[in-house]
Amino acid sequence: MAGAMRPDLNGQRVLVTGAAGQLGGFLIPELRRSRAAVIALGSRPDVGIDVAVDLADGEATGRAIGEAAPDVVIHAAAGTDVDGIERDPARGDRSNAQATRNVAGSARECGAYLVAVSTDMVFPGDGGAPYGEDAVPAPISAYGRSKLAAEQAVFQADPEFAVARTAWLYGGAGKHFPRTVLSVLRKRGSIDVVDDEFGSPTNASDLARALVQLAAARGSGVFHLVNEGRASRYDLARATASCAGIDPFNVRPISSEDFLAKFPLPAPRPADSTLLNRRAAAQGIALRGWREALAAFVPLLAAELRSLPETVPATGG
Ligand SMILES: NC(=O)c1ccc[n+]([C@@H]2O[C@H](COP(=O)([O-])OP(=O)(O)OC[C@H]3O[C@@H](n4cnc5c(N)ncnc54)[C@H](OP(=O)(O)O)[C@@H]3O)[C@@H](O)[C@H]2O)c1
Repeated sequence: MAGAMRPDLNGQRVLVTGAAGQLGGFLIPELRRSRAAVIALGSRPDVGIDVAVDLADGEATGRAIGEAAPDVVIHAAAGTDVDGIERDPARGDRSNAQATRNVAGSARECGAYLVAVSTDMVFPGDGGAPYGEDAVPAPISAYGRSKLAAEQAVFQADPEFAVARTAWLYGGAGKHFPRTVLSVLRKRGSIDVVDDEFGSPTNASDLARALVQLAAARGSGVFHLVNEGRASRYDLARATASCAGIDPFNVRPISSEDFLAKFPLPAPRPADSTLLNRRAAAQGIALRGWREALAAFVPLLAAELRSLPETVPATGG
């Protein structure tokens, strides 16, 4: 389990941004199980979306959040296309820095408490890992810089707000690393995966539960919320194969240098951005180890892929 007790939000109004995204899809049911009155905010009208707004539009965001009158805002919306933002950093400025400035200012104005989700990619990953919450960020990508600017906007709006950094998120119906691994293995029989990039794989369902606990506790400052332990991409891919009943020897190690020579990516990735959940643990918010969390998810993913026609996603996760 991600944590011992499910908090009782007892009818509190909780607005979730990024409601149609990967994490949003887990946050909303988790909040409902905690008896919150959920307001789902998305970028466009859709099934399950209560309010549609472009968060980079300050006026529209202020109006939408003001009218929703939330007690709590969980800001899970972000521009997450790391390579797209490297090519066009203005996208990160807009969807991460500016949007978060607007959300944090609006939350402050209507007296709501805010938790904003951030990333391990605020760290350089060049020797300081595992990173605790007090480690000094120094992003090496445009995405990381835009998320660090977003973090700063949160605390400029109100030092009592919280930033929750997570990493290597997977779950749900969209694109993520375990899905890419199984899709490629299914189609081609083998996959080359880098064995010199390390981090903290995190089950989005576990993160959703920890975020609800954090929101209930009204924690302030920076928190790291990842499944425990450290993995290379290669470790994660092998464990994913094993959990799906596929021989892990079909996952072959490759160095980042050799991989990038074959498949160049615009954004640099931290070599080791493993996070430590020190402050969450001190508040009694515990996330299980990454292998156990992965084993809980992969059978569902494998069953879903078995029911689909054979296709390979265009890009790796
Ligand atoms: N995925 C990871 O591996 C990972 C790792 C570390 C941290 N994180 C952080 O975790 C959080 C959740 O990520 P996720 O994986 O759930 O991302 P996701 O699946 O890409 O969802 C993000 C959502 O934000 C929405 N959004 C983006 N810009 C918006 C705007 N200007 N106005 C309104 N909505 C906007 C997107 O809508 P559209 O699709 O319509 O644009 C999308 O529904 C983010 O803060 C991310 O930075 C993710």
